[in-house]
Amino acid sequence: MAGKIWSGRFRQSTDKLMEVFSTSINFDQKLFYADIKVNKAWAQALVDVNVYSQQEADLVCKTLDEIEKDFSDGKLEFSSSDEDIHSANERWLTERLGDIGARIHTGRSRNDQVVTDFRIYIREELTEIKSAVTNIQQNLVNLGEKHVETIFPGQTHLRQAQPVSLAHYLLSIFFQLERDKARCKEALKRINQMPLGSGAIAGAAFDIQRDKLAVTLGFDKILENSYDATSDRDFVTETLYICSSILLHLSRISEDFIIWSSEPFRWIEIDELYATGSSMMPQKKNPDSLELLRGKAARMIGNQVTILSLMKGVPTAYVRDLQEDKEPVFDSLEQTELCLKIFNGVIETLKIKKEKMLQSLDPALYATDMADYLVRKCVPFRKAHSIVGEIVAVAEHADIPLNKLTLSQIQKVSPLFESDVFDLFQPLASIQKRNIKGGTGPVSIKNQLDNAKTLLKA
Ligand code: ARG
Repeated sequence: MAGKIWSGRFRQSTDKLMEVFSTSINFDQKLFYADIKVNKAWAQALVDVNVYSQQEADLVCKTLDEIEKDFSDGKLEFSSSDEDIHSANERWLTERLGDIGARIHTGRSRNDQVVTDFRIYIREELTEIKSAVTNIQQNLVNLGEKHVETIFPGQTHLRQAQPVSLAHYLLSIFFQLERDKARCKEALKRINQMPLGSGAIAGAAFDIQRDKLAVTLGFDKILENSYDATSDRDFVTETLYICSSILLHLSRISEDFIIWSSEPFRWIEIDELYATGSSMMPQKKNPDSLELLRGKAARMIGNQVTILSLMKGVPTAYVRDLQEDKEPVFDSLEQTELCLKIFNGVIETLKIKKEKMLQSLDPALYATDMADYLVRKCVPFRKAHSIVGEIVAVAEHADIPLNKLTLSQIQKVSPLFESDVFDLFQPLASIQKRNIKGGTGPVSIKNQLDNAKTLLKA
């Protein structure tokens, strides 16, 4: 039973299918670089507890650098006895250094090693994701600045609601993504805590200086309790939630863009760079980039559910089930990064059809402004709402646009309306009434743009 790092008490070799079934090397090799980093820091820490002389630790670190280079050059091969990337690295080190290599696993378990590597991996990927989000935000601001007074029919329930500035919509995406970035930052405080030194469950029996080790490995602090450190995966659930949240946002925006670029709307056009055609219908230009973004959101949610289900019933401490936490995270982080890049491209190349947007504005969109007009003449809003509702019904029954009613038709419902009622039916006039903080008025939008730019600078 040679080869396995735990083979001492075994008299039989593992079943071949069991070997294939239990190995994680085909996916956890993504942790290779983090594992090298962790091994180097651990070798140095072992000097303080007299397991290694400084010379030996230097030799271990140099050899780990060589292993890293050989791995990058594709010169290293996995063996069927490698259960995971941690055992493979240990094997390569031991093959090169004999007992000096074999001493690396002093006071350590793969249970603390794997979560240390994993946390390093995740913190690096989340940092990438944050910067991909920032690129999109920058492009949203750039586009928003050009469209403060581009007005389209804002929809609720997918029905025309009120005129809004296109920049207002674009900034809504900015602020959604800003919260996702804040979630990353906040989660990183918890992710970037070091489990190493926790051993299998009880803590290493060698007096490793964990705080010093944490500094070497770029962790903000150590995890205080070895039982917790090797057991919990809340940093994984948080990571997957961040990916789900980002994709939920991108998915809904994609849905908007798919609708807005469809034939009945044509408010925007997706660039050919991000569209595909049909194998049968020559005229087609389909928004596949956006449809895939919507689809990927489902995948992110699936990954999230996987980890929640994985954790709910396992006993506290390491169990092999936890190995199943890797693939959903690798997948979600990689897909999220990819989705952010694609979405960024869509935004950068998006064509806005201002005229089409304007033409789509239904005069009924100003009904709220008509009610507000009465409110300014001291009519209680609830009454004003009902009066304007009646006027809308008159227009609808006569099958004419709301602004094409005559003043006398309007006055028949409420004599409080005067000829200036027709001034209400102006998109710009309508949004200009909404310069309240957060509103769609140009002054408000310019403030939001300024705030967005300040956030980007921070
Ligand atoms: N590859 C494992 C994982 O990702 C770590 C191995 C720990 N195995 C063990 N039997 N204690 O969870």
